Amino acid sequence: MDHMLEVEKNAGTISNAMLPALYRIENVRKDTDDTFTLELVPQGDGDGFTFSPGQFNMLYVFGVGEIPISICGDPARKDLLVHTTRAVGTVTKALRKLKRNDVIGVRGPFGTHWPVEDVTGSDVVIIAGGIGLPPLRPALYSLLAQREKYGKIVLLYGTRSPADILYKNELERWRARFDLEVHITVDRGMEGWHGNVGVVTTLIKKAPFDPDNTVAFVVGPEVMMRYAILELHKRGVESSSIYLSMERNMKCAIGLCGHCQLGNVFVCKDGPVFTLEQLSRLPNEY
Ligand SMILES: Cc1cc2nc3c(=O)[nH]c(=O)nc-3n(C[C@H](O)[C@H](O)[C@H](O)COP(=O)(O)OP(=O)(O)OC[C@H]3O[C@@H](n4cnc5c(N)ncnc54)[C@H](O)[C@@H]3O)c2cc1C
Ligand code: FES
Repeated sequence: MDHMLEVEKNAGTISNAMLPALYRIENVRKDTDDTFTLELVPQGDGDGFTFSPGQFNMLYVFGVGEIPISICGDPARKDLLVHTTRAVGTVTKALRKLKRNDVIGVRGPFGTHWPVEDVTGSDVVIIAGGIGLPPLRPALYSLLAQREKYGKIVLLYGTRSPADILYKNELERWRARFDLEVHITVDRGMEGWHGNVGVVTTLIKKAPFDPDNTVAFVVGPEVMMRYAILELHKRGVESSSIYLSMERNMKCAIGLCGHCQLGNVFVCKDGPVFTLEQLSRLPNEY
């Protein structure tokens, strides 16, 4: 292609990618004390929203700011965009105050995805700590939609306390299935809690998967991810079969500003999903 044409074409793509589309809040759900889920629909007509499990959007609260939040709905539902967010600071707290029919800006989807289509025939173990479950939920929807293509599917999920467990009804439904193993644990039990107590990584040693034929998808706080890697390695899962989603500060989300840079890669564009093998070549904690 002629160089000027290419430059013009890219400039068009960049300005489109930087321009938020307007989405109306169709539904707000309070999941826990500090976490809430927004269901969004496009303002006006549109073809719906297509994304791959593990990708994220930039959500813009008008007059406040823009933040990266993973898409956590079902990839098969193009009509509904779903985001679960923990309120930790300026933008997430402003987002939490919004109500049904309020409008926000959405840019995306951005980033790499869980390799759901590439791991057919394998056992898949999904390990989530706290707010790490939302970015993994679309992968689970996709795996279950083609259940016959995979070996064992195991979800290991840990939270601080029973009150912090997200998507309780859905977890109950998943737990009732014969073709999915769901194990939940909490750091601190409380009266009425009869489940596991202990950090999520303690579940890995007994989890029913074949280490020689397993891929692991892991999201959670840094310390949890480090211990998950240790336990997966102890079981014999290779670094090339361990996938992690990385969080970094983001601004442009299209590989321009450098805010999310990790060595020579941009987490917004080359991630957020990386294999441990890829990460071990970059300057970071893994
Ligand atoms: C690719 C990607 C996907 C993400 N997906 C989700 C998601 O699905 N759901 C979700 O809730 N969050 C997600 N995050 C994290 C989210 O982007 C941040 O929590 C958000 O940017 C914080 O913005 P803020 O203005 O509310 O907080 P700020 O005002 O920027 O920060 C306020 C305080 O919160 C702390 N803080 C900032 N980020 C985090 C964090 N991630 N965890 C704990 N404390 C933090 C800061 O250190 C600071 O002390 C994702 C991040 C990335 C990069
Ligand atoms: S957020 Fe700008 S380069 Fe990644």
